[in-house]
Order: sequence, then structure tokens, then C-alpha cells
Amino acid sequence: MNKTRKLIIAGNWKMNKTVAEAQDMVRRLKIDLGTIKDVDMVICPPFTALAEVSKAIIDTTIRLGAQNMSENNFGAHTGEIAAGMLKEFSVRYVILGHSERRQFQKETNELICKKAHAAHAASLKPIICVGETLEEREAGKTQKVIETQVVGCLKNLNGGQVMEAILAYEPVWAIGTGKTATPDQAQDVHAYIRALVAQLYDETVAQHVRIQYGGSVKPGNARELMELPDVDGALVGGASLDERSFADIIKNSI
Ligand code: 13P
Repeated sequence: MNKTRKLIIAGNWKMNKTVAEAQDMVRRLKIDLGTIKDVDMVICPPFTALAEVSKAIIDTTIRLGAQNMSENNFGAHTGEIAAGMLKEFSVRYVILGHSERRQFQKETNELICKKAHAAHAASLKPIICVGETLEEREAGKTQKVIETQVVGCLKNLNGGQVMEAILAYEPVWAIGTGKTATPDQAQDVHAYIRALVAQLYDETVAQHVRIQYGGSVKPGNARELMELPDVDGALVGGASLDERSFADIIKNSI
């Protein structure tokens, strides 16, 4: 697939897989995908598996991401993990503001923005998630919700930082439901996000920033989504837990 921006396909394992299961998955992924260079491939295991997965992917083109991090660098923050700690395991990416964290941990745009600044300070690339609920979409509020999230999460980041970041559009109603956004729905929101970035920064930043789609991405729908002009990759949940289906998503997207 010939696109100006390199596709980035990330697997968000969420709260799944023991260390042994993660090792087994990576052993098989390596055989299938270990040398692919046409797509940036990222896996985001739970914190507990980062150390072993990091060792297992050393000689491959697969990169490591975390699913969250603290906005603080160290100190009295029980249960939190700092960017510098992720760097110890060669983590390159960190998912921030996933809708599950927005919903269940009450993460706000302001907090996600602080985390994005902390990620950049540690040279981690944030994958900043935005997306509307079904209720918001049905009320015609999709663009307004996305605007508030993008503006809030990118506050005071400079153009260079935004070009390094990845935005992920994940309509909440498509996550884990089997309901994928139609190509038109996805392209509409992605184009809107890119136009918003152009308005907030400039056209160069907007043309550089990669915008992933997430929400029931499967081997069967990956290609039509990845072919859309403003879709630059995928953030895959359920289908990234199975070696075959994650590998097929990547292969079908090349
Ligand atoms: P599913 O692919 O399971 O719908 O999850 C998407 C997601 O939340 C990725 O972050």
C-alpha cells in the first residue's frame, strides 16, 4: 500500500496475558512478522510482561508500547508507573487517554495532556486516544466532542511534539462490540481531526501526524480501513490477542 505516512499498527492487549502467554505470543509473532519494515508494528502488553517481551523482541522490527503511565516522574504515587521506568524496558510508545481509562479511571483531557508532556520529556511517543460515545454520535455531537478532546490533550505541545505523537480515533461504540465504523464514518472523523491539527498548528504538522483508527479492527476489515486517505494505522484490541489475527491484520494492510 503506497501512503505518504507510514502505517503504524499497534496491539493493545489491555488486561490480558500472563508473562508466559506473552512470551509464547511474541515467539510466534517473531516468526511471522519479525522482519517487516513497511509498517511500524507495536505491541502493548500489560506492565507485568514488559520486561520479558522487551527481551524477546530485541532482534526484530516489533516495537514496545505501554498502556498508560503517570504524569509524575517519581515520588509518592502508589500504584503508578513513571515514563522513566518504562524507558528501562526500551518502551517507545505509550497509549494515553484510552476511553476505558476515561470512563473507569475518570481521566480528563487535562490529565491526559500532562501525561503527554511527561511522555515527550522522556522521549516516549504518546498514542493519544479520542472518540465519541454512541449517545454523543446520535446527538450529532461527534465533532464537538473530538474537538474538545484534541484541543485539551494537545494543549501547549509544540508542532514538533505533535508530529512525533500519534492520535488514535476510537469511537467508543466500536470498541469490543464488533461494530466497526464504516469507511465513510472513519474517514470523516480522521479528516476532521487532521483539519483541526492544521488549524491549531499548520499544514505541515497536520500532514505529518499519524492518526490511527481503533474499534473492532479485524483481518477482514483492516485493508479497507487502512486504504482510507486519512487513516494511518490501527489500534487493535481483541484481535491483537491472537497471533494469527494480529499478523493477518498487518499483512493485509501492507
Ligand atoms: P477492539 O479492537 O477490541 O474493539 O478494541 C479497540 C481498542 O480499544 C484498542 O485500544
